[in-house]
Amino acid sequence: MYCFDEIAYRKRVDWFCKARFGMFIHWGLYSIPGRGEWVRSDEEMPEEAYLPYFENFDPKAFNPTAWAKAAKAAGMGYVVLTAKHHDGFCLFDSALTDFKSTNTPFGRDAVAEFLEAVRGEGLKAGLYFSLIDWHHPDYPHYGDKFHPMRNNPAFENSHRDFDRYLDFLHGQIREICTNYGKLDLLWFDFAYDHLRGEAWRGTELMDMVRSLQPDVLIDNRIEVSGEGFGSLYQCAPTPYHGDFVTPEKMIPPQGIRDVRGNPMVWESCITMNNNWGYCPADHNFKPAPLLIKKLVECVSKGGNMILNVGPDGDGKIPAESLEILAGIGAWMDKNSESIRSCGPAALEKPEFGRITQNGNRLYFHIFENTLGPLPLMGLQKEQVASLRLLDNGRPVPISTSWVHSDYPEILFADLGPNPVLPDPVDTVLEVCLKG
Ligand code: GLC
Repeated sequence: MYCFDEIAYRKRVDWFCKARFGMFIHWGLYSIPGRGEWVRSDEEMPEEAYLPYFENFDPKAFNPTAWAKAAKAAGMGYVVLTAKHHDGFCLFDSALTDFKSTNTPFGRDAVAEFLEAVRGEGLKAGLYFSLIDWHHPDYPHYGDKFHPMRNNPAFENSHRDFDRYLDFLHGQIREICTNYGKLDLLWFDFAYDHLRGEAWRGTELMDMVRSLQPDVLIDNRIEVSGEGFGSLYQCAPTPYHGDFVTPEKMIPPQGIRDVRGNPMVWESCITMNNNWGYCPADHNFKPAPLLIKKLVECVSKGGNMILNVGPDGDGKIPAESLEILAGIGAWMDKNSESIRSCGPAALEKPEFGRITQNGNRLYFHIFENTLGPLPLMGLQKEQVASLRLLDNGRPVPISTSWVHSDYPEILFADLGPNPVLPDPVDTVLEVCLKG
């Protein structure tokens, strides 16, 4: 009988809940055609049409230190790289397959170099690992929900041995848990139809991972995908429960609480445009101001945001992505204390923006100024020790203006005569509470 260790769990998730902001990196063979990481499935591409990407994989601009520095400058606390995506191509030197980066003209173990670079920047390092493998002969082909050959009867499955596939899957996960030092995060992806939990031999898998990497944080996608919450949410944790919920391309409207109403650990995974893998035709990038406000929203609701970049086939992060990261970093340089180690405040969301809290410090995120002094609903004057703007450190007085004399029960902040706030995206007012 699996016994959930709440104390060990809280210890495991502590750094994650303090970091709040991470970088996802989707990079692999699919980055060469540049039509997203599902290109083989979307286009029902046969293996032989995909192999030239393997034969020509030689990313001259691969520079994981530059990736790690870009993440750090953006204020991110952790970085997760796709060690293997659904196409089965390994960015690491697996002894269990020839379909790996060390067998390409590139000839290098990109995962090893990535982990060294991220750790070198003082960031936490994680690996995404696909449970699905469209390259492996024992993975279901014909009739599967997603396999590139799902509609081709020539790829029927009578000779395929799924247990042999699971031996391979577990073996590769053992490799990444054994050969690359201490991993901070494992991002498995994803369960669907009957392929969930014990269908992956989940208990055996999790026991192995936890024995090799006792402190590693693991997502909930052995059980679910971006749809579904997992057994921790049900307050009935299975041996393969995830440590955090993984809403995808959305922010849970009210955060996430388990069935008993307890706040859960969760991370919204967000693309910059609409693709995880490199896709130059997709110019629908989310502007930095929007992403700053979405990061604040995640934290104000008790969650993390992991923001994705999809480097091209040469290993270069697209210029649009770098520009967005720089915009977020400029804001984080001045305001990261309103994000890191913060969570929801026990106050109503204000009309002008959002609130995050860390201990006795409240951070009022002002997206839009009010006319006249700023009402800080729910706060009493006696509670407040000091107010200041994070942007420039300027102290902010409590307003004594006559204009709000009809509302003596409400505390107003006097942001000064200039209605234009220092930061047009999110000016943060820190309120330090007494005691
Ligand atoms: C979904 C996508 C997958 C991506 C993952 C990231 O599962 O299908 O391609 O890697 O989300 O969250």
